[in-house]
Amino acid sequence: MRRPCVAGNWKMHKTLEESLHLVDSIKPDLDEIKSVDNVICPPFTALAGVKELLEGTRISLGAQNLFWEEQGAYTGEISPLMLAELVSYVIIGHSERRAYFQDSDEAVNKKVKAALAAGLKPILCVGETLEENEAGRTGEVVQRQLTSGLKGLGEKDLGEMMIAYEPVWAIGTGKAATPDGANQVIKTHIRDALASLISPEIAQKMRILYGGSVKPENARDFFQQPDIDGALVGGASLKAEAFVEITKAAAG
Ligand code: PGA
Repeated sequence: MRRPCVAGNWKMHKTLEESLHLVDSIKPDLDEIKSVDNVICPPFTALAGVKELLEGTRISLGAQNLFWEEQGAYTGEISPLMLAELVSYVIIGHSERRAYFQDSDEAVNKKVKAALAAGLKPILCVGETLEENEAGRTGEVVQRQLTSGLKGLGEKDLGEMMIAYEPVWAIGTGKAATPDGANQVIKTHIRDALASLISPEIAQKMRILYGGSVKPENARDFFQQPDIDGALVGGASLKAEAFVEITKAAAG
């Protein structure tokens, strides 16, 4: 069986001091919920400090992005090697990166490969916009993002990677997908697609998260779905109590 995972994407929120404070306040509670994996993804500037605070806990650390080159004249960028010293996970292809920073399918694929090569576990995000959803193109878009994101990768590469299905219209809007609707997209366009793209074993093994306005009030309904293995949480991951409640819901 797949272990549930609740990941927090803090986005561009929290100074170093605020980050340490938040981690301090969630750490004891999360540490008790042993049947769920937690990953928190603070901004780059807080990673080293938070890493120290998480030492000896079962909470994993993740970054929100990376560049694919190992090093070089790329002002402002962060390489997989630099991150490998600090984190075990990295979010790649988040819709905000695709929309505001022009992360193309090709760039996402380069980032996934570079992360894996550095020993990082990617959390690959896919999801359709409202316009694509209304045009009935959800399946096509999600499968395109999945196929191109994983291009050139095989069964042995993907062991600990996760996929997050995040419909863009549900992110930060308070308007989550229906649990059943999200499960259907995940089952048909991600898990079944993975079976033919990579292998049925990988499809069964890989954890697929739902993201988009997950909160304590709706989390349980998502986690009861057979193909939803956890959540990538944005807004609610910034509130200690809400993030702990969502993690408890994943524990069943
Ligand atoms: P949200 O964000 O929970 O605030 O909707 C989710 C995400 O963007 O990962």
